[in-house]
Amino acid sequence: MSYQNLLLRSENGIAYLTINRPDKLNALNKQTISELHTAFSALDKDASVRAIILTGSGEKAFVAGADISEFAAFSIDQGKALSKDGHDQLFDFVERLGTPVIAAVNGFALGGGLELAMSCHVRVASNNAKMGLPEVSLGVIPGYGGTQRLAQLIGRGKAFELIFTAGMISAAEAIQWGLVNHVTTPAELLAKCEEIAFKIIKNSPSAIASAIRAVNAGFADGVNGYQAEIDEFGKCFGTGDFKEGTTAFLEKRKPQFSGK
Ligand code: COA
Repeated sequence: MSYQNLLLRSENGIAYLTINRPDKLNALNKQTISELHTAFSALDKDASVRAIILTGSGEKAFVAGADISEFAAFSIDQGKALSKDGHDQLFDFVERLGTPVIAAVNGFALGGGLELAMSCHVRVASNNAKMGLPEVSLGVIPGYGGTQRLAQLIGRGKAFELIFTAGMISAAEAIQWGLVNHVTTPAELLAKCEEIAFKIIKNSPSAIASAIRAVNAGFADGVNGYQAEIDEFGKCFGTGDFKEGTTAFLEKRKPQFSGK
């Protein structure tokens, strides 16, 4: 599969997915969102891919937001559909993916760019990254999950401040606020993401997918996260990975997980 706006390669169980519109600071247009959906969907079905690293092309931006030129003339209904399609195709989709996704935030992560990073399961930023939700400066609000995920990650008070001021925070502030997990130099960014990915891929893919569902359940409306954990925990006992993990421990050897 070839993509117009994405670069994709896989090596040693890790897929490297790069949003490739550097002349537009990797802004998310309709085509890019659709390609990301296709790529994430295919990677999630590929058992050889155990972790995905998502980044932006060039040295300046992860993603500078949704493509403003595409929606500037939209009506109320078109605006609502834009947000809903984005949630369905990309932002909720990534958050719920069974394969863990690490965002390598290599520069500006603004608007939809920060929302995409927040949909990923883990975030690592380079020390030149700038993050924010500047939508109110355009007369709109974050529409790709930003009002929800930012408040979940950094708390409501700080989320209100960042959204109301349309400001940008540095990587140093982002780590202090709990918005990113690690900060590195630009040169070390991918290596740090790989270090995390290699630790992840030693473990059971089916258990990791269960953990993603259980953690997400706690943030879903009308769902009891503890009950979801009980159910997911129980399901693990029916997997080959559980048999392999426990047998390998008792036999004092390293497990070979199939993800089944
Ligand atoms: N949508 C569409 N195009 C975008 C974009 C976006 N969100 N962000 C950047 N671009 C385009 C610019 O229009 C410009 O294109 P051009 O060269 O054809 O004119 C190109 O990317 C480079 O951006 P530029 O603004 O010249 O770079 P800069 O270094 O001066 O400023 C930013 C960088 C990130 C501060 C600035 O591009 C910006 O504010 N972008 C919009 C951020 C935003 O509001 N995002 C939320 C959208 S809901």
